[in-house]
Amino acid sequence: MTALAMTSAPREREFGYRAEDHRAISTMVYDEVGILLPAEKAQLVYRRLAPRVRACNLATISEYIELIGRDERERKRMIDSLTTNHTSFFRESHHFEDFSERIWPGLVERLNNGGRVRLWSAACSSGEEPYTWLMSALGADRTAASKLLRKDFRVLATDISSEILAAAKRACYSEETLSKVPRPLRSSWIQEKDGVLQVDPVLRDAISFRSLNLLGKWPMKGKFDTIFCRNVMIYFDQPTKTKLQTRLADALEVGGMLYIGHSERLAPSLEDRFRCIGRTSYQKVAA
Ligand SMILES: C[S@@+](CC[C@H](N)C(=O)[O-])C[C@H]1O[C@@H](n2cnc3c(N)ncnc32)[C@H](O)[C@@H]1O
Repeated sequence: MTALAMTSAPREREFGYRAEDHRAISTMVYDEVGILLPAEKAQLVYRRLAPRVRACNLATISEYIELIGRDERERKRMIDSLTTNHTSFFRESHHFEDFSERIWPGLVERLNNGGRVRLWSAACSSGEEPYTWLMSALGADRTAASKLLRKDFRVLATDISSEILAAAKRACYSEETLSKVPRPLRSSWIQEKDGVLQVDPVLRDAISFRSLNLLGKWPMKGKFDTIFCRNVMIYFDQPTKTKLQTRLADALEVGGMLYIGHSERLAPSLEDRFRCIGRTSYQKVAA
C-alpha cells in the first residue's frame, strides 16, 4: 500500500483509491481543463467520484479510469463532478460598482449611437455573476433596460460544466441566495411563481450561456468590451494562468476591462498591456 493510500483512506471507503489512481485522474483533469488536483485532494476527489463509479455499475476505480479514457461523455461528467462552482450574487461587489459607474455610461452612449457592446462572463458557474452584472448595470428601470437590450448588445456567459450551465439558464434561486440582491433590483428582476423564484426572462434572454473550456478553442470572433474571469484561475498553475490571461488580453478591445478574482494576480508578462485601476480590476491599454 502506498503512502497516499495509507494516510488518506478511511476504513469505510467503498472502492480502493490508490496513489496511482489519483495520479491518473489528476493527469487527465489537468490535461483537459487545467485544474490542479495535488495528492492532498485525493480524499475530496474520491468522495466526488465514488457516486459516478456506482452510477456506472463498476466495481473498482481502475475500471472507472479505463471508462473515462474511452468515453467522452463520462469524462465530461467526471469533470463536472470535480469542478468547484461556488459563487454568489454581488460577490466581490466592487467590480460591479466600478463597471456600472465608470464603464457602463460610455457603453450606453455607444449603444445609443448605433455602436456595438460585447460582455463576457468567463467561468460563470450557476449564473449569479452575469445576472448581477446585468442587473447592477441596467438598474431597476425595466422599461429603459428592455429598450437598451434590443440594441447591438450581447452578453456571453460560459463555463466548462454543462450541469451548472443548465442551472444558470434555469435561473431559479433560493430565498437565501437572493438575499444578497438589493430590494429595488429584486423587485424589478426576480419573479415569483408558485413559490419558485426566477430571474426575469428579459435578463435571461439577454445572456447567451455556452459551454466553453477556457483552455480549448474559443469560437468567438469579435472582441469584448469587458471580461469577468474570476475565481477560476486559482485552480490553475502559473503557465496556464499566463497563457489564459494572454488570450483574455487578446480577446479584449483596447480600453476594455478585465476583472479577476480577489486572490488572483495578473502575470508580470502582461503588465505592459494593462493598467491596474483598482482592486483586481485592469484596463487594457496596449494591443
Ligand atoms: C468558483 S466558480 C467561479 C464562478 C464565478 N466566476 C465567481 O467568481 O463567482 C469556478 C468556475 O470555473 C469553471 N471552470 C473550471 N475550469 C474551467 C475551464 N477549464 N474552462 C471553463 N470553466 C472552468 C467551473 O466549472 C466553475 O463553475
